[in-house]
Amino acid sequence: MVNCMVKPKIYVTRDLPERGLKVIKQYFDAEVWPEYAPPPKQVIIEKAKNVDALATLLSDKIDAEVFNAAPKLRIVSQLAVGFDNIDIPEATKRGIYVTNTPEVLTDTTADFAWALLMAVARRVVEADKYVRNGQWKVGWHPNMMTGRDVFGTTIGIVGAGRIGYAMAKRAVGFDMKILFYDVIPRPEIEKLGAKKVDLDTLLKESDFVTVHVPLMKETHHLINEQRLRLMKKTAYIVNNSRGPVMDEKALYKALKEGWIAGAGLDVFEQEPTPIDNPLVKLDNIVIAPHISSASLETRAKMSEMVSGNLVNFFQGKQPPNLVNPDVMKIRPLSKLF
Ligand SMILES: NC(=O)c1ccc[n+]([C@@H]2O[C@H](COP(=O)([O-])OP(=O)(O)OC[C@H]3O[C@@H](n4cnc5c(N)ncnc54)[C@H](O)[C@@H]3O)[C@@H](O)[C@H]2O)c1
Repeated sequence: MVNCMVKPKIYVTRDLPERGLKVIKQYFDAEVWPEYAPPPKQVIIEKAKNVDALATLLSDKIDAEVFNAAPKLRIVSQLAVGFDNIDIPEATKRGIYVTNTPEVLTDTTADFAWALLMAVARRVVEADKYVRNGQWKVGWHPNMMTGRDVFGTTIGIVGAGRIGYAMAKRAVGFDMKILFYDVIPRPEIEKLGAKKVDLDTLLKESDFVTVHVPLMKETHHLINEQRLRLMKKTAYIVNNSRGPVMDEKALYKALKEGWIAGAGLDVFEQEPTPIDNPLVKLDNIVIAPHISSASLETRAKMSEMVSGNLVNFFQGKQPPNLVNPDVMKIRPLSKLF
């Protein structure tokens, strides 16, 4: 480490996969929160008082309160591509570097969105319960558990970044017509034959809508009642971006009253979602506990990126996955060490 006789101190808010944690323990004076559930905010504030770095997860709220308590804090290395749990302007203002773990989880996350899409359209979870609950009394019937075809239909991708593009690649294999909506030009996805449309057109024309935007002020409740009402009665919606991108109350009405056919959700407005969330009672929704990037290989790679960002930074180099590059104007690396 640059000019460091002593190892920098880090607080790691969860027991990360071994591949990255091993490196963190080698290079840092590390303390790790040992429990499965996240540390209370007060614990993070307390621990932040004496550390040079934090390694965080998306369930940790890292805001001005934490930064105010942490005079030595120089970097927050997050294990996730999304970083809506971190107040980036507050970090930047204070010269605190923030990093994430993009790309390694793109295909794993797209695979899971595709699994939700297939599962809800072909009623995989309902069918599984049907057999296990002893409801399978007749061997075969032409009307038993009929769902909807995925191949040859139209998919609408909201947010055509890394994961949106990976969804388009999958859709090509299913002979689907691909529509997308994004706020910036996305020529790569157009090369796959996808057509750029406005959000309302996408919602009106798609048989499957899949949401891949980051959570920001502009995307909060992007999918609201008015927009769900534009969708076909036979259409499905999948969200594995962030829960608050979709208005859950409106989604419940849409599913219950049949404005749309079904949904697949990996993310919720509140996580864990309470068991009395009425969405959990519906049959035309497949739900998962925010596990879209949860493959052993990807989680190991994500933890490796967390440690890589930290080690590069403390060696005086720009961390590879810096999300707030403006911080370098406020506190250049040369002034940090
Ligand atoms: N459920 C999970 O476990 C999981 C895993 C990985 C990522 N995610 C979520 O998926 C999101 C997308 O990840 P990514 O790697 O594809 O990000 P990305 O930055 O590559 O792509 C996001 C795209 O959304 C577009 N966008 C931004 N605001 C928009 C708006 N208002 N309307 C339309 N498009 C808009 C951007 O221009 C960009 O093209 C992440 O921010 C994260 O929250 C969830």
